[in-house]
Amino acid sequence: MKSKMYKALVAEEKNGGFVQSVKDLNTKNLPENDVLIQVQYSSLNYKDALSATGHQGVTKKYPFTPGIDAAGIVETSKDDRFKTGDKVIVTSYDLGMNTPGGFGQYISVPADWIVPLPNGLTLKESMMIGTSGLTAAIGIEKILDQHVKQKCGDVLVTGATGAVGSFGVALFSHLGFDVIAATGKMDQADYLKSLGAAKVIHRNEVAEVESKPMLSSKWVAALDTVGGKMLDAVLRQTSHNGVVACCGNVLGHKLQTNIYPFILRGISLMGIDSGIALMPDRVRIWNKLAADWKPDVLKEFFREVPLIHLPKEIKRIQKGEQAGKVLVKLQS
Ligand SMILES: NC(=O)c1ccc[n+]([C@@H]2O[C@H](COP(=O)([O-])OP(=O)(O)OC[C@H]3O[C@@H](n4cnc5c(N)ncnc54)[C@H](OP(=O)(O)O)[C@@H]3O)[C@@H](O)[C@H]2O)c1
Repeated sequence: MKSKMYKALVAEEKNGGFVQSVKDLNTKNLPENDVLIQVQYSSLNYKDALSATGHQGVTKKYPFTPGIDAAGIVETSKDDRFKTGDKVIVTSYDLGMNTPGGFGQYISVPADWIVPLPNGLTLKESMMIGTSGLTAAIGIEKILDQHVKQKCGDVLVTGATGAVGSFGVALFSHLGFDVIAATGKMDQADYLKSLGAAKVIHRNEVAEVESKPMLSSKWVAALDTVGGKMLDAVLRQTSHNGVVACCGNVLGHKLQTNIYPFILRGISLMGIDSGIALMPDRVRIWNKLAADWKPDVLKEFFREVPLIHLPKEIKRIQKGEQAGKVLVKLQS
């Protein structure tokens, strides 16, 4: 195929710091992989903010185009599973980490990373969900697999206004659970209620509690997106046989806690890593998200932005100010 020029957000080091700007690139410089995809939509994730600002644990070489999410149309394929014109989703693996990502109008990826767009979802809707929605859905599936049932008690979502948290609130509520949303942004209470939260509390009500090994039970399950001290406090307030699914390290990578919630209340702590989710699991969950698990409020929590606005949105993530999902429109 003839090479093509395209637009991409490029992060690079300048004067000792990292800056991002929209540049014209050529598809001939993309890695030689099985499938070339014209990206229609991407979405902004916490990890993208790390990649865009020089976090070596995520991206090793710059200049680089971040974007761990992409939804688009197959332009060319060397793999029989995909043909020109197919609508597809790619999330995580190495996309947007060390393989140029979804903040470019083209990506070139191995066929093994690609999920065919399920019936019931548009490309745009798939990126309103994106990695953050997939992460919340993986966590909620793990909780349901442990036989946590609706109407047996409240469920908690921490970091509730964030991208993972917002989707967690919406999906839990869509599935019939009574959701407590814990947030540092009480001015976003109406937003969280519009997603289906039954109750909105300040995150300090969860985290700033006595240091006793166990406290009164407040929820049967929790999706924790924050980690650290928050996760410890969540575990100590989870009821008998409760389940906590965790995915985030907003408060750092250390977890200091105690054993009693596990051995005296039988609670389970489930880890989520959407980046290494196996392909059959991804396909199953994307298909659920296109059908029974598609929240009615999907359109409530995204803001559509062009590439050029991404540097501003990345700063909001860094300051913990992001609310809801940022959908990135790649084609004009
Ligand atoms: N394991 C995985 O597969 C996976 C996948 C996706 C994301 N993640 C991780 O999950 C976490 C959340 O991701 P995201 O995309 O939802 O990020 P995000 O949109 O930036 O949301 C993070 C939220 O955390 C809360 N927060 C910020 N600073 C805080 C503080 N000092 N104390 C307590 N809470 C604070 C805020 O919510 P409130 O103001 O509402 O409290 C914020 O909106 C990140 O650590 C990310 O790396 C993991």
